[in-house]
Amino acid sequence: MTIDLRSDTFTLPSREMLETILTAELGDDVWREDPTVARLEALAAKKLGKEAGLLVTSGTQGNLCSIMTHLNHGDGVVLEAECHTYLNEAGGLTSIVGAYPFLIKGKNGLMYPKDVEAILTRPYNIHFVEPKLLCIENTHNTGGGAVIPKGNIDTLAKIAHENDVAVHIDGARIFNAAVALGIPAASLVENADSVQMCLSKGLGCPVGSVIVGTEEFIHRARKNRKIVGGGMRQAGIIAAPGIYALNNMIDRLAEDHLHAKLIADELKAQVSNIKIKPVETNLIVIDLSETPWTAQEIQDRFESNGIKMGSMGKYLLRMVTYFGISREDVDKVLATIPEIFQ
Ligand SMILES: Cc1ncc(COP(=O)(O)O)c(C=O)c1O
Repeated sequence: MTIDLRSDTFTLPSREMLETILTAELGDDVWREDPTVARLEALAAKKLGKEAGLLVTSGTQGNLCSIMTHLNHGDGVVLEAECHTYLNEAGGLTSIVGAYPFLIKGKNGLMYPKDVEAILTRPYNIHFVEPKLLCIENTHNTGGGAVIPKGNIDTLAKIAHENDVAVHIDGARIFNAAVALGIPAASLVENADSVQMCLSKGLGCPVGSVIVGTEEFIHRARKNRKIVGGGMRQAGIIAAPGIYALNNMIDRLAEDHLHAKLIADELKAQVSNIKIKPVETNLIVIDLSETPWTAQEIQDRFESNGIKMGSMGKYLLRMVTYFGISREDVDKVLATIPEIFQ
């Protein structure tokens, strides 16, 4: 069996999770008559300490609907330069929302308050776009699964709110961040106005994300979801696994973090000149530029041993642990390392 470390999006639902679909009470959710969806939305809102939630098809749709709801056409949005919403969501924030991106270079995804403040406090000038939204990604994907700590979010949110700017968190992996920090997710995002969290990826669901915020925000986001074709009918078949995941799949993320750390530590011990971003959660980003190999060469060698991994550039490899990557799989990867890097 292949060990697939390309992404946590390759996760498969457990039998227990799938069984929740068979007994889910269903209805037409566009009419707000699917009780399972309503239960999931309330549960997600509770877990993240917000008033209301909205089931969406994906992280991309969740970020898009959130940004659409916060902004008017032509408003500015401040984002970290390597964030997923800017780089990997097909440009929906410009082509659909008509938002103008202000990019801030961060350190492994973390934005320094002084850089955000410099943009948000510019005096009115007829030539300038006005920023109305700040987006923070947590954990940060290209930052190597880096956790953005609560202190940084709170400081950025204070600056934003003092300047009439809303805060959205792309929390595709927000529960990974909360588990790594050892604090409740609700506390981590308490100063954000909206959050997008993925049920897929680390939580192991086959599909879906939830956005959360105030009742009023979610009411408007629901209309925007309809506009982008995300009004779903008997969506309880998606929501039931989501409820299962929020009740059963959060604490176990610590296991994925441990597995990622074991692999990273072994790589560092065995391979000279390899550089690895600090492993804080379930992602391992490996820089091979000072070794004799390219990412493709190492990917090919691992693949001939039944192990798949992703690449993020000529010398950058990415491995991701998740539900379905067992301790035995990790041991197999560890055992393969010496023969790959020779
Ligand atoms: C940080 C982040 N945000 C958003 C997304 C988009 O999620 P989806 O693939 O469900 O659209 C991803 C996907 O990997 C992600 O890593």
